[in-house]
Amino acid sequence: MANKVLVLLAHPALETSVTNRRLARAVTGLDGVKVHDLYETYPDFEVDVAHEQDLLREHDVVVFQHPFYWYSAPAIIKEWLDLVLEHGFAYGRTGNALRGKIMMNAFSTGGREEAYGPDGRNRFTVRQLLAPFDQTANLCHMIYYPPFVVYRGRGLPRQALAETAATYRRCIEALRDGTLPYEQVADLPRINGAADALDSQQSRIS
Ligand SMILES: Cc1cc2nc3c(=O)[nH]c(=O)nc-3n(C[C@H](O)[C@H](O)[C@H](O)COP(=O)(O)O)c2cc1C
Repeated sequence: MANKVLVLLAHPALETSVTNRRLARAVTGLDGVKVHDLYETYPDFEVDVAHEQDLLREHDVVVFQHPFYWYSAPAIIKEWLDLVLEHGFAYGRTGNALRGKIMMNAFSTGGREEAYGPDGRNRFTVRQLLAPFDQTANLCHMIYYPPFVVYRGRGLPRQALAETAATYRRCIEALRDGTLPYEQVADLPRINGAADALDSQQSRIS
């Protein structure tokens, strides 16, 4: 199965980014994958709703890629959601344009992994904090995948960041190729590595 993947990249200062720039570079130019930079396209937040809805119709997988800002995504993603996911298009009795498509978040954090949980300073897991995205996908009849998370991306040594970017590329390719079945990954705290795990399972079987 070949899915078309739309990566909605949202970093308000990509020129200062370490993590998101590296991740975006890893998936730019892949067959069947379109990286769409929202801040570059809409510096004044004037989102072209018809164009964005056309892009959604043309793709099967929607990935929000961004730094984690205030336990969520940068503002343009909220603006995009508010404007693009219209009643009658994305939800409501006749709103079926997104039915069956996949939604996922891919993001970097400043906080450490241990900080995200009931005993950490941020009190909640990232999956709990992503509940609004999860439920938005649900309302739009989409399938919400576990996130790709890079904890403390800016603190990673160069080689580790390159390996993380390669893992991200494999995840995006696996989503494109339909080799990450939802049932096998649904409960993971994050999807990182699932593509690698499935790859090694398959090479053991074959
Ligand atoms: C406005 C703002 C809000 C932030 N909020 C959070 C947050 O809620 N949790 C967190 O772990 N890091 C937070 N950070 C840190 C960023 O997530 C981190 O710097 C970014 O993911 C690094 O990615 P980059 O190299 O692509 O810029 C915040 C940073 C800024 C500027």
